[in-house]
Amino acid sequence: MNATLAIKEARTEHDVHPLIRKRFSPRAFSEEPVTETDLLTLFEAAAWAPSAMNEQPWRFRYALRGTRGFEALHDTLSTGNQPWAPNATAMVAISALKHHARNGAPNATRAFDTGMAVGNLLTQATGMGIHGHLIGGFDYAAASGALGLNAAQEEVICLLVLGRLGEAETLAEPYLTRERTPRMRKPLSEIAQRIPD
Ligand SMILES: Cc1cc2nc3c(=O)[nH]c(=O)nc-3n(C[C@H](O)[C@H](O)[C@H](O)COP(=O)(O)O)c2cc1C
Repeated sequence: MNATLAIKEARTEHDVHPLIRKRFSPRAFSEEPVTETDLLTLFEAAAWAPSAMNEQPWRFRYALRGTRGFEALHDTLSTGNQPWAPNATAMVAISALKHHARNGAPNATRAFDTGMAVGNLLTQATGMGIHGHLIGGFDYAAASGALGLNAAQEEVICLLVLGRLGEAETLAEPYLTRERTPRMRKPLSEIAQRIPD
């Protein structure tokens, strides 16, 4: 078994579902394939997330490594993400429609809805032995331009790379140490409080 899996497994205060415990954001990916059908399965999982007025404002545009689309998104990455992200099999641009389709009003919850969808996607991925790593460190305007988005209608929210887990030793520092460092969370008491009676 890949040693990273044990290092990264969440040590939780309560007994959460294994799919939650086992998801993490790696930087080492293997050559083992993720097929286009796998990707479509992930997007289907995303599609079944809840959204305000069932507007489903999320959009996913994907590219496989070795294609021009992958290179175009890679070129928008910040210097901290460029060294490891190309190890992944696929790169996904996650965007959201800015307005409600039914009345043209701004959709204030579009980013929240889209995050819900991505949560579904990552949980499904974990169940399929696929790992994802979200990336906010990139040039948003350049990514929007590379995708040919109409900025008045749609905004890029995040990038996501997907692949099968690789060996940590394939990474250079500082990424190697990060891959071998256990995941940490704030104490539950800091983020969840009972409202006083
Ligand atoms: C919106 C968003 C943007 C992120 N941007 C980056 C990024 O640019 N580079 C990176 O290495 N990780 C990025 N991450 C991954 C987080 O650092 C990671 O989820 C966090 O440290 C918790 O680790 P875990 O996902 O392994 O539990 C991002 C995550 C999110 C949700």
